Parts: sequence; structure tokens; C-alpha cells
Amino acid sequence: MIGLFDRLFRPLLRALDPEDAHTLAIKALRYMPSARAPADGDELAVRAFGLKFPNPVGLAAGFDKNAQVPDALLRLGFGFVEVGTITPRAQAGNPRPRLFRLEADQAVINRLGFNNDGAAAAHMRLARHRDAGGIVGVNIGANRDSTDRIEDYVRLIETFSTVASYFTVNVSSPNTPGLRDLQQAKALDDLLARVLDARERVRSRAGPTPVLVKVAPDLTLPDLDDVVGVARKRRIDGMIIGNTTISRPGSLRERDKAREQGGLSGRPLFKLATRMLAETFVRAEGAFPLIGVGGIDSGATAIAKIKAGAALLQVYTALVYRGIGVVKEIKDDLTAALKRGHRNSLASMVGSDAAAITAESWPG
Ligand SMILES: Cc1cc2nc3c(=O)[nH]c(=O)nc-3n(C[C@H](O)[C@H](O)[C@H](O)COP(=O)(O)O)c2cc1C
Repeated sequence: MIGLFDRLFRPLLRALDPEDAHTLAIKALRYMPSARAPADGDELAVRAFGLKFPNPVGLAAGFDKNAQVPDALLRLGFGFVEVGTITPRAQAGNPRPRLFRLEADQAVINRLGFNNDGAAAAHMRLARHRDAGGIVGVNIGANRDSTDRIEDYVRLIETFSTVASYFTVNVSSPNTPGLRDLQQAKALDDLLARVLDARERVRSRAGPTPVLVKVAPDLTLPDLDDVVGVARKRRIDGMIIGNTTISRPGSLRERDKAREQGGLSGRPLFKLATRMLAETFVRAEGAFPLIGVGGIDSGATAIAKIKAGAALLQVYTALVYRGIGVVKEIKDDLTAALKRGHRNSLASMVGSDAAAITAESWPG
């Protein structure tokens, strides 16, 4: 069934305007029942943030921005799904076109700008999902025209705490002007203090919902020192490394499209994001688990992310170029790697290459 979905839809989706293709994919997931992917072997299970993930391969934020299809996505075999980014009020985002495929580079540039239906609509959908089980994280952000951005995050924590398996505080989208300034030490400290206060206030009805911070791969290393320092001081539950990059690696072949403004994702992001993951791993010193994201499109890139420090993984752009089958391929390759190494879980692989990666020359 999953193979059929890919065979039917990928050629069609690739021929469409990228944003229309995305809308159609969400519709198909909503209205076409799919068979459930086979259950995962115990060796793929990961315990992190007090949650038990059936497998480490998650869907990254930005695909199901409005929480329309988390259950359908979980049925396809993801170990977890992150919906959002959701802002308190609905907003249209930037004018179209704002999503570009760089086919020759297996990459995407987007400057969507947090287009979403707002918190009330997403909350209603997630409240309906609650009995279905599975891990559904909620990625939260501030409205573009907000006068108190920190208050936006606080309200979202209060709104979603009973329906979110975990929260991702997104301070790393390049498409909301000034948002990434919230990664600066003082601003991040204020933000996290208030977000964690909000979590404490709703704890009695929601439980201790884990709070993660998602950062940009474009941070300087001194900035990363600060971010990890604040995250450790505030006892954050985890970090996601990372979002799209505003940099443009010299290796890009689609030179014209590479000039479009926005965040670059997919294969050309892999080296930078993996380096930043390793740099974060050595700074976190095991204080919290990390989710590795950026350019994962195969078993080999998934294993490299784990060895760089990721306890969990997320993918997005590979789905555009490889289809949903890439999820099964990654899981099968992870299982095979565990068998070859006579290991019964991925935990012992996490970060085994991190120190070596941080000694390499900086990826260009
Ligand atoms: C079209 C598109 C929209 C995205 N929207 C969001 C978003 O709303 N919030 C967020 O935190 N990340 C968003 N991302 C970033 C992804 O979650 C992920 O961090 C990034 O794409 C790197 O992973 P990949 O190389 O596997 O795509 C978006 C990415 C793409 C391609």
C-alpha cells in the first residue's frame, strides 16, 4: 500500500507546483485510508524525554503544519510526528511562490513564513486524536506581527499541554524576521524561564510535557556555547539540531534557484547540520537527548546522524525526492546495522563519532 501510494503519487506530485503538490499530499493522507506499517522490532525502540518511541525516525515540523493528518502519518511507519509550526493566531505567511525544489541538489528552499490555521483549529484536531495514541509533538512559534513574542509561546504551552506528547520551541525559522534573535543567551533564558513556568502551571492537568528547543544550523560556535549553557541551566528536556540553513553551500548546482531567499533543506544541509549536531553533543555532555535533522535520506545518513549524537531522527525533504518508502529503508538499515554489530539497541551508537567530527575541517 505504501509502495502503491508512492508509485501513484510521486510523478504527479513532482509535476505540480511544489506547494500545490504538498496540499494534495495532505488531502490524499486525509481521505485515502492506508494500511498500517508492520510493527517495529524491539531493537528500534528508543526511550527519551520520558517517552517510549517505537522507532527513531520522526517526521520533522512543517509537513503537517495544521495537525490535519498525524494519525495517517504514524500509520505509515514514523516513530513520531511533529506538527506545526503553530502560532497563536492564524496567519497567511509570505506571498507565493515561496517553496522551491532544487531537483539537481535534492534540496528545497522555503520561505513560507509560518502559514498556519492558528492554535484553536489545530487544538480542535489534536483533541480528537488523543485516543489514537502514538507520539505527536507540537512545534510552537510566534506570530509575525506579535508585540510580545514570549507571551505567544506561553499561551501555546497552555493551550496544547493536554494534547502534546512534547513541545518544540522553534526559535530558528529564518522566515519570521527577528525570530532567531530569541537564540541569544539573554532572550533564550527569558523565553525558557517563562515557557517552563507555564508548563509547571498546567502540570497538574497535563503532566510533565517535555520541552525541546529547535535551533538553527547557522549559529556560531560561541552562540552554541551560550544556547547549550542556557538549555542546561534551565534543564530543558532536549534539543533539535536543526532547522533549515540560510547559507548556500558552494556545491549547489541549481545556481538560479539557490538565489531564492529562505531556508535550504535536504541533501546539501547534511554536512553542516551533522557538524552542528556533533558540536551540540559534546557541549551537552549527556544532559539531555538530541534529535538530529537535516539531509537524512538513507540508512547511511541516518546512522551517521546517530553516531554524531542523535538519539532520535527527523526527516522532511527526503520524502519529496525518495517518497515515504525511505522511512522503511532507514529502519531496515538500522536493524541490519544493529545485527551486524551484535547490539540490541541504538543507544550505544549515539555520539560515538561526535568528538572525531568536531576535529574535522569546517564543512564548506
Ligand atoms: C517546506 C518546509 C517547511 C518547513 N516548516 C517548518 C516549520 O514550520 N517549523 C519548523 O520548525 N521547521 C520547519 N521546516 C524545517 C524542517 O522541520 C527541518 O528542520 C529541515 O527541513 C531539515 O530537514 P530535512 O533536510 O530532512 O528537510 C520546514 C522545512 C521545509 C522543507
